[in-house]
Amino acid sequence: MLMNKVALIGAGMTRFHHSLHKDKSSRELFVEAFLECLDSVDKSISHKDIDALFISATASEFFEHQSHIACLLSDWTGLNPIPATRIEAACASSSAALEIGVFAIASGMYDIVLVGGVEKMTTLEVDEMTYALMSGLDHPYECILGVSNPGLYAMMANAYFEKYDSSWEELTSISIKNHHNASMNPKAHFQSEIMDIAKKISQKKGLKFDNEMDFLKSPTNPYIAHPLRLFDCSPVSDGASAILLASSKKAKKFTDTPVYVTGLGHTSGTMSLHDRRDLTSIPASVEAGNRAYKMAKIESKDIDFAMVHDCFTPAEIIATEDLGFFPRGEGGKAAIEGRTRINGEKSINTDGGLKAKGHPIAATGTAMSYEVWKQLRGEADKRQVNNAEIGLIHNVGASGGTAIVQIFRR
Ligand code: COA
Repeated sequence: MLMNKVALIGAGMTRFHHSLHKDKSSRELFVEAFLECLDSVDKSISHKDIDALFISATASEFFEHQSHIACLLSDWTGLNPIPATRIEAACASSSAALEIGVFAIASGMYDIVLVGGVEKMTTLEVDEMTYALMSGLDHPYECILGVSNPGLYAMMANAYFEKYDSSWEELTSISIKNHHNASMNPKAHFQSEIMDIAKKISQKKGLKFDNEMDFLKSPTNPYIAHPLRLFDCSPVSDGASAILLASSKKAKKFTDTPVYVTGLGHTSGTMSLHDRRDLTSIPASVEAGNRAYKMAKIESKDIDFAMVHDCFTPAEIIATEDLGFFPRGEGGKAAIEGRTRINGEKSINTDGGLKAKGHPIAATGTAMSYEVWKQLRGEADKRQVNNAEIGLIHNVGASGGTAIVQIFRR
């Protein structure tokens, strides 16, 4: 239980993209997210109000040959001499940074804390980038054998198909929905429906696709790691996100519509897939969800919308089951039936998810919180969930060594 309530009072992020930020370094990207975050504070805030920075950059040693990045970002945002600390938990890094920021305020040590993440992934070719991200897996037991992130999630997908007698078609419904949601998100990497992408490709290559499935089943959507094809994968993106946290005592000075952190769940699970009993669930996610629900004193049915970790399409299906939104084996069917669309039974990944919004690793967690902030303040425009009161984020480190669930309330 937190000794003091903590609220989000500002949020900012860059657009996530593979080429737009070509000439920017991660420090410039983070400054861009920070400036939007400052601007978003309703009653204005100054640099001197901010007491500390917790920041993540998962693999900046690989991408930019840069470690010791927290003080660099404190300097570039003009926040020196505040303490600045880097937090790392693979793809869940910036959710872990947000959690530490909450603890720092709840302890009474600070009143206002900046948290966030940044990743500049496109400095490397895709094979080198894949190798860099493999450092977040179990090196001697997985990477040395050549297993990478797409391969691990492909194994989970195959296990799920086998156990529940389902098939790849269920995965396509995740991709189609998330591209649709991202088409309404100005911050998303891909801002196109899959059919619009298919039309462009057909014009360029003289091909004909009758519908989305026709395109998704074609060689234009090649296998990456069977059964996962290109459109089952999150893309390689650059980007940054930032959130300003405040004690509830101070929050009202800066905004009349704070968003409160009401539930936190952070767990560790067996990292290597070969040591797990069942590949159709991520046990760390189940436990993180249970802890967050318990702290928020709610159940999964009370969640109005959720951003879940869909680095690959099967991950979204498994997450919606692990978090208790749908019974085991029914997450994919629920998606096919449209029950996870915006304003469906449970609105999932309203921002386009990692699949279509993009996944600059360390920026992902606080970008999920950015969408929750927008939704709970009624600022999500065409993506707005009606009467959104309670939002959840679910952020997984690699294939489930870390899972973080956070619940926010208006
Ligand atoms: N979904 C849809 N389209 C994609 C895409 C994706 N994930 N990734 C790239 N594309 C598109 C590009 O926009 C490009 O289209 P264009 O020719 O019209 O510009 C085309 O496909 C080729 O892009 P390219 O960058 O050459 O693709 P690639 O083959 O080098 O990379 C993947 C594709 C799937 C291998 C890469 O996106 C990847 O590794 N993704 C997973 C990243 C990851 O592991 N993250 C961590 C998760 S835990």
